[in-house]
Formats: sequence, structure tokens, C-alpha cells
Amino acid sequence: MDEGMTVLVLGGGGREHALLKCCLRSERVGRVVAAPGNGGMAREAECRPVDAEDGDAVLALARACGADLVIIGPEAPLAAGVADVLRKAGFRVFGPGREAARLESSKAFCKAFLRDNGVPTAAWANFTEVAEAVAWLDRCAFPVVVKASGLAAGKGVIICEDREAAESAIREMLEERRFGESGREIVIEEFLTGQEASLMVLIGGGDYVCLQPSQDHKRIGEGDTGPNTGGMGAYAPAAVVTEAVMAKVRERILAPTMEGLRKAGLDYRGVLFVGLMIDDKGEPKVLEFNVRFGDPECQVLLPLCETDPVQLMVECAEGRLATTNLRFHEGAAMIVVLAAKGYPGSYAKGEPIGLPGQLPEGVDILHAGTRLDEAGQLLSAGGRVLGVTAVGSDLRDAADKAYAVVDKVEWVGKTFRRDIGQRQLHPTS
Ligand code: AMP
Ligand code: GLY
Repeated sequence: MDEGMTVLVLGGGGREHALLKCCLRSERVGRVVAAPGNGGMAREAECRPVDAEDGDAVLALARACGADLVIIGPEAPLAAGVADVLRKAGFRVFGPGREAARLESSKAFCKAFLRDNGVPTAAWANFTEVAEAVAWLDRCAFPVVVKASGLAAGKGVIICEDREAAESAIREMLEERRFGESGREIVIEEFLTGQEASLMVLIGGGDYVCLQPSQDHKRIGEGDTGPNTGGMGAYAPAAVVTEAVMAKVRERILAPTMEGLRKAGLDYRGVLFVGLMIDDKGEPKVLEFNVRFGDPECQVLLPLCETDPVQLMVECAEGRLATTNLRFHEGAAMIVVLAAKGYPGSYAKGEPIGLPGQLPEGVDILHAGTRLDEAGQLLSAGGRVLGVTAVGSDLRDAADKAYAVVDKVEWVGKTFRRDIGQRQLHPTS
């Protein structure tokens, strides 16, 4: 593997900031360019403007900076086939091509893949016509979950307690196009109960390795209340994924998935995010697949991975994953996301943010929706704005370290959950 590589990181959220930091830490990396990046990334690396979904524009940028590795952070460029364009031109790319990205960009495609390969998942049916979808509700037990099949930034999922709610969700998606083209097709799914966990599976050349299991907090409100968001905090390792659960995941989910990819002729080179629901008997089912790192899960997983993640990503990009024995740091990591007031609804942008100068050992502030104005003042520029990450000797220690810094961030709109990790810290509550 070449030393002093140039890495191009595509994207500009908290996940990409974590990827950028991980590249800066790696002995193998000489230079990192981020595109488009954000206000925090711009303080640490070169940032270039780019339309990340425009394959030709990204290709031109990769050529201009002489990228030895391109890491594609978000799903939209993957769904747009940017990885294919780069790979065809000879670049090493971490991220699957357009066809494999359909595992995320079409929930209907994903569910068919799971069914065809015998992977356990919630019972489901997909529809494009209102009348057929509504008629199908006669056969459902409630609650049901109504989902826009296409990409909807984690927001196109509605849990419907009764028939009336389900009918209106169906109409909102198929008729009123509340989620635009993403809701042209919908999936209606059995409601699963249990604990969720996120598993990041690095895949290259028919082999895979798993990072530690993690747990996201999707709802905006404490105690898992209110609407779904992109993720308000996460921690790892998640104890709900015991060795016994992990053995079932490998046997019933990952083995048939790898075989399914092979049969479909999909040369997957990237990370497959397996969203799991684990019931009270420890039986895992797939809630969803994503074709990129979870955000904010990535921000806690990379600092815990003692094996250089850049090396793993190069191996995946080359389609020959050779490092299969991963080492992880002792302890645990947590991220608390700071969002704008009003998120995931409408919220203000352009609010000034003051960050603490000196950070304690093991703590980082990752930027998601920020920008720098002409005077160098940091401003809010999105819904999820910052994330405070901490690595500690255990989850309690990580939480204490993270929240101590959260409290020092000065910003009028600062909105966050105080209870990240509570389920593991206080299992009975
Ligand atoms: P998805 O984007 O499909 O993962 O859905 C987003 C979130 O909605 C998940 O993380 C779950 O919290 C919830 N969800 C999705 N599908 C189901 C289901 N079948 N049963 C229960 N909750 C679900
Ligand atoms: N944290 C959930 C996601 O990235 O989809």
C-alpha cells in the first residue's frame, strides 16, 4: 500500500468530518481534500466546492487533486452512480456502484433482495397505487409502517397505529407526494418490536469484516419521543448485540447477503450498514440496508477501531479485503448531536456558535451543518449542526466527557438529548 496517499472525501456532514479526521490520523495518508466539506472541515483540510452527485464534476476533481483513494460519504452520490464513473476511470473508490446502491435507494428492491436470499425481515408488500395499498390494509394487524421506497433522509417512514393513520400516510406519499419522487412507490411493513442496533460491515471481494455494533437515537425527543431525525446521538459498542446475537447475524443475515451479492453479480466495495431489530428473545431481523456509514454511528466507530480504517477502506476499494482480524480500543465511545431549534421541522440558520478552545483528551467536536463567514465566525448552516464525540474507559466515562463539552458550546439554538446511551447505562429505565 502506498504511503503518503492523497484521499478525497466526498460529503460535508458529521460522518465526513469523522472520516476526514480518521484520514489525518492515518500514517498512510499524506493529504486530504474534502468536497464540499463544511466549516469545521475547512479548518483542518482543503475543501473544494463540488456537486457531489455529478459524476463528471467529481471525476474532474479527483483528477485535479490526484486522489489515490476516494471515500464517498453520503448515499445520494452512490445512488447517482458516482462510484461507477470514478472506478471506470481507474480510481480506487470506497463506496458501491449504482446498482448495489439500490439496496438503500429503493426499499422495494432491498425487500425483494432480502426475500430472495432468505434474510429475516418484517413482512411487507410494495405498491404504486392508492387503491391497492388501502385494500391491503384489510390484511394487516396494526400498527403498520408505511415507507417511501426512495431516499428520504431518514424521514420517509411513518408508524401508523390504526387504519385511518395508515390510509392518510398512503395518500400523503402516493397522491400528495409529500416525499416527492421518493414516494412514487411505497412499502407497507409489519411493525417490529425490540431494540435497534446498527452494524457496519466492510465488504471487498467477497469477504467482509464488521465494526463494533452501535446504537443510534433516531427520535428528536428524550425517551425516544417525537418525530424521527437523521440521528441525535449514538454509542458503541452496543451491548444488545451479544456474541450470541452476532453469531445469528453472521449466519442468517450476513452469509446469505454476501451470497446474494455474488449471485446478483454485485462487486460490492464499501460499507453495508445493516439496520437490525433484535427482539426480546435475541432474534435479529433486518430493518433496512444502507450503502454507506451511519451518521452519527460512524463518528463513534472510527475512533474505536485500532486497526487503521484507511487501510480497510483501501482494501475494500481494491476488492481484496485482506485484514480480517480487527483490533478495537478498550472502552466505549459516544456522540451527542447538537441540532438547530425546530429540527427536524423548520429551523433557523446563520446563528453564531462559540466553541470551547481546549478539549479534554479523547473528546472531539465534529461539524455537520456549519460554515465560516468572511470574518471566520462559525455559523449554523443546517439541521444537525455539531456532534460532540468522546472516547472513555467505559460508556459512563464517555458520556460524562461528552456532556461536559456539550454544556460549553455557546449557541442560542442548541438543542440536544440528555439521554444518549441511557438504555445501556440504566437498562431498567
Ligand atoms: P428505516 O429508514 O427503514 O430504517 O426506518 C427508520 C426507522 O423507523 C427505523 O430505524 C425504526 O426506528 C423505524 N422502523 C422502520 N421500520 C420499522 C418496522 N418494520 N418496525 C418498527 N419500526 C420500524
Ligand atoms: N443513523 C442512521 C443513518 O445514518 O441512517
